Amino acid sequence: MNLQSRHLLGLEGMSKEDITLILDTAESFREVLERPIKKVPPLQGKTIVNLFFENSTRTRISFELAERRLSADVVSFSSGGSSISKGETLKDTARNIEAMKIDMVVVRHSSAGVPHFLSRVVQANVINAGDGLHEHPTQALLDMMTLRQKYKSLEGLRVCIVGDILHSRVARSNIFGLRTMGAEVSVCGPATLIPRYIEQLGVRVYNRLEDVIPNIDVLNVLRIQLERQKSGLFPSLREYHRYFGVTKEKVDKASHPITIMHPGPINRDVELSADLADGPHSVILEQVTNGVAVRMSVLYLLGTAQ
Ligand code: CP
Repeated sequence: MNLQSRHLLGLEGMSKEDITLILDTAESFREVLERPIKKVPPLQGKTIVNLFFENSTRTRISFELAERRLSADVVSFSSGGSSISKGETLKDTARNIEAMKIDMVVVRHSSAGVPHFLSRVVQANVINAGDGLHEHPTQALLDMMTLRQKYKSLEGLRVCIVGDILHSRVARSNIFGLRTMGAEVSVCGPATLIPRYIEQLGVRVYNRLEDVIPNIDVLNVLRIQLERQKSGLFPSLREYHRYFGVTKEKVDKASHPITIMHPGPINRDVELSADLADGPHSVILEQVTNGVAVRMSVLYLLGTAQ
């Protein structure tokens, strides 16, 4: 984490030591989540504002739960119904909220760079909950936590991220984090959905699932963004499913079980078959549970740093 700058803006450039600290701290909060009373006091007296300018189910609920379980006071904001619709700028919105004496801001926005911008205009700690096509750092941290629980170490783990890499902040944060932790990362998808620069990030590119499946331990399946279908980046959902849909028939060709991950929301039987999503090698709901623990960890480390 960029603990020294008091913000979590992305995983690019974050050290192995900081990622390990977040994941180790998250494990102790995971234990708290198993208790009958799931609340601990470290952020008592701190006020956190969740600024969600884009839809979210998992990330938003997970941050809110994490904040309440650390005993913080929580205010949640959606752009619909706010004075943004009257023309107020993001900077004015943020500075007015900060004038109410808040300590931390969690922000999701459809534009890349908004958390970085906020970190320059407010004094509060800023946490990126997903910015445009740029990064979704807490998603990648919870993904790494889930894999570390299963495999003990990420060193040498072979992870393939499948689908719309071009429009995926989840893919970018996973690539940065997993590579730093020593995993071998590949991506697979239609050539139109793989950005040209991706090999420079140290990942291998596959255009056929059949080629990658025998050589990996984990498939992290991304949501196909249905709105992209009209843009001509892939011909039809049926064709996408045929070539890049992760199905039992395809993964059974591997000689070993493959762990199935998905950040959600899932388009069942499009990018991932329902039997795999609910099957014995799926860790999708573990990812969701770990999301609360990872967000508690990040909030705690930032909120209690001197
Ligand atoms: N994984 C994820 O970011 O899901 P939400 O969009 O529901 O928050």
